Amino acid sequence: MMLIDGKAHAARLRADIAQAVIARGAAGARAPALAVVLVGDDPASHVYVRNKIAACAEAGITSIEHRRDADLAEAELLALVESLNRDAQVDGILVQLPLPAHIDAQKVIAAISPDKDVDGFHPVNAGRLATGLDGFVPCTPLGCLRLLESTLGDLTGAEALVIGRSNIVGRPMASLLISASATVTVAHSRSRDLPGLCRRADIVVAAVGRPEMLRGSWLKPGSTVIDVGINRVAKESGTGTRLVGDVCFTEAAEVAAHITPVPGGVGPMTIACLLENTLKAASQA
Ligand code: GUN
Repeated sequence: MMLIDGKAHAARLRADIAQAVIARGAAGARAPALAVVLVGDDPASHVYVRNKIAACAEAGITSIEHRRDADLAEAELLALVESLNRDAQVDGILVQLPLPAHIDAQKVIAAISPDKDVDGFHPVNAGRLATGLDGFVPCTPLGCLRLLESTLGDLTGAEALVIGRSNIVGRPMASLLISASATVTVAHSRSRDLPGLCRRADIVVAAVGRPEMLRGSWLKPGSTVIDVGINRVAKESGTGTRLVGDVCFTEAAEVAAHITPVPGGVGPMTIACLLENTLKAASQA
């Protein structure tokens, strides 16, 4: 089994982006700028936002953080997004999810200008992806595709199973794999015989959010496994927690040819692809 080192891939991608930002600067352009909107006090969201802002700084990308309390009115958030849409100094807009329950996340996503939508969540960008047009692609599935192509090369004809149908990962992942000429199956919580679907797949992308649900015995020997899950579970020792994926890593490592670890697999690629999308937004401005 070969480990897919997402951290190393992401470091290379980030270095390339930093170089491109320097080249832009040398040509007289200002630094790309990302506005990050964080509403409320979800602890995981605060960690993600902190990591995204640190990654921007390292790549020479300006980030502008807009923090708001959990009781922010939806209309005020929409007004903030509108002002960022109009601001010529802002290239990319990221509204961290989840939003508080009283705010309609779809309404907020739809308010972001598709040309500044570096998360790729706007229906216009989802439609562009589904129809094979250029646009912004959600960072996590884009990172997964990059890992697959650098591990396997051409994906033409490969049997790919995507487990999960969310707008953030599963659906865009399926679109990307279709465009890469893989034969794509999308499974979800209502699918029958998930082990049987896994057993015929050359590529499995697991994005279900259930700790270690996928067992090694389900996998086809020699397959490639991309584990999108980030689940915090109690340690066996009883004290503290650890992060595990949606795949039982020790079992899968016995069967698969290539597998991403958690942490250090998909996560670092997500952030690198956000920087890439921000650079792209700035280049197209
Ligand atoms: N919450 C979980 N993943 C993401 C993401 O990729 N972007 C945003 N904005 N929020 C998230």
